[in-house]
Amino acid sequence: MQIIESVNEMQQLSLKARGEGRSIALVPTMGYLHEGHASLLREGRSRCDLLITSIFVNPTQFGAGEDFEKYPRDMERDMTIAAAAGVDIIFAPKGEEMYPEGYQSWVNVDKLTLPLCGASRPGHFRGVTTVVCKLFNIIQPSVALFGRKDYQQLAVIRRMTSDLNMAVEIIGMPIVREADGLAMSSRNAYLSAEERQKALCLNRALHGVRSAFRGGELSALALRRLATEIIEKETSPVIDYIELRDGTTLEEVATTDGKTLLALAVRVGRTRLIDNCLLGDEC
Ligand code: PAF
Repeated sequence: MQIIESVNEMQQLSLKARGEGRSIALVPTMGYLHEGHASLLREGRSRCDLLITSIFVNPTQFGAGEDFEKYPRDMERDMTIAAAAGVDIIFAPKGEEMYPEGYQSWVNVDKLTLPLCGASRPGHFRGVTTVVCKLFNIIQPSVALFGRKDYQQLAVIRRMTSDLNMAVEIIGMPIVREADGLAMSSRNAYLSAEERQKALCLNRALHGVRSAFRGGELSALALRRLATEIIEKETSPVIDYIELRDGTTLEEVATTDGKTLLALAVRVGRTRLIDNCLLGDEC
């Protein structure tokens, strides 16, 4: 496994590989890899000749006062997980490689970035789409894999790829959960033992709403109220949003169906957690 820090070296290597007819799978990450990332890497491995993962804590997707500085980092551990999943190259550029002095170009997806995390984290998706576009230009992937835990991010990246005619297939992969149902996330590392228990209210809310939906409750208002009740049973979580939206357009719905997205963002202590499901799917 090779570690590349230089944008130029990465781009030359990728262009050569594509020129030789080799396909490239890219798994973009911010590091602190867990089993969710490993599942993306294994899928990428099975699809392409060359498997590349990027590890870059992207400053432009963090707002002022967010956790950019303290975002967990552990390159040694990431290298072990990446090697076990069959990664050929880790692309780990420094901040100034990706955003050199004088940098001023941005990619922005319009409507899809307005609600949900876009409303709570202004500028977040502009940072995500910009860095993902740059990674696509540098690495030239034939496929790129993303987890569905960041459902809106996946929708936004699909939109960008299609709108801007990028020749990369976007694969969305299922959420990977701990045995007790907590969705895997690098930010789970922030949770104390007590908060870790409280965080299970997100998964409980997904299950509760889904079974009410299966039982015939279709009103978005009623389902939202139910999710709120389940989450508020815990003492300290602070709800950022609980929303039922069309799973494709992310527009609000009054009456739900199996393709309706239930999306949650909840603060447990100082940690903001997100989770989601489509009402018709397994959670
Ligand atoms: O999902 C993430 O880890 C990040 O948003 C991504 C896609 C790697 C862009 O920095």
